[in-house]
Amino acid sequence: MDVTKADEVRGLVDAAVSRYGRLDILINNAGATLFKGIEETTEEDWNRILDTNLKGVFLGCKFTIPAMRQSGGGSIVNIASVAGLLGMPQHFAYCAAKAGVIHLTKSLALDHGRENIRINCICPGGVLTPMLGEVININDPMQVERVAKQHALGRVAEPEEIARVSLFLCSKDASFMTGAAVTVDGGIAAGRMGQVHSR
Ligand SMILES: NC(=O)c1ccc[n+]([C@@H]2O[C@H](COP(=O)([O-])OP(=O)(O)OC[C@H]3O[C@@H](n4cnc5c(N)ncnc54)[C@H](O)[C@@H]3O)[C@@H](O)[C@H]2O)c1
Repeated sequence: MDVTKADEVRGLVDAAVSRYGRLDILINNAGATLFKGIEETTEEDWNRILDTNLKGVFLGCKFTIPAMRQSGGGSIVNIASVAGLLGMPQHFAYCAAKAGVIHLTKSLALDHGRENIRINCICPGGVLTPMLGEVININDPMQVERVAKQHALGRVAEPEEIARVSLFLCSKDASFMTGAAVTVDGGIAAGRMGQVHSR
């Protein structure tokens, strides 16, 4: 289904509830990136990036929260990005959308905490997925190394390293967490990498 289409998102939620009788977990993971400056960015580009990354999260939450309320609570994890915390060159539309996801998460956490619905987001750094392949050639070790060097850990993440944090946020171990923006970014947001003193 297409996360930007209200009918399709509602249909998926209804199908899940009718199949399983309840809804406990939503991971809003679909996303799309764009590597363009503002003058090259068309209105269609802007709509695609905002619709996929931000409207999709809105729709997912909108139709899931009533079902979670009926189940007595639940956990929502929105996949934001370190790009929602920091500006990135040629990435303004994606950064704006992901910053929106972070604040949507915090606001909804306030609205639905009393209903035992916990809503958190994850801000990944570079992850070795096809999306990274849209920004660099992931088969070129030099290009991967250039991105890896921006992370304190000196590498990009495997997708499972983000998935495990999603699982944690949905588990009872995270029962007191809501409204959090959890950075899983290999240290990108900790500060700027690079040598300041040459001595
Ligand atoms: N890869 C990274 O470096 C990185 C870093 C930070 C955050 N993220 C975020 O992680 C999430 C997962 O991305 P990924 O790295 O796996 O990228 P990806 O491009 O490999 O996967 C994105 C998925 O979203 C789906 N999708 C796109 N538009 C959709 C739509 N309208 N409806 C339904 N599905 C749609 C695609 O089919 C694809 O399966 C995204 O929200 C992305 O912004 C990725």
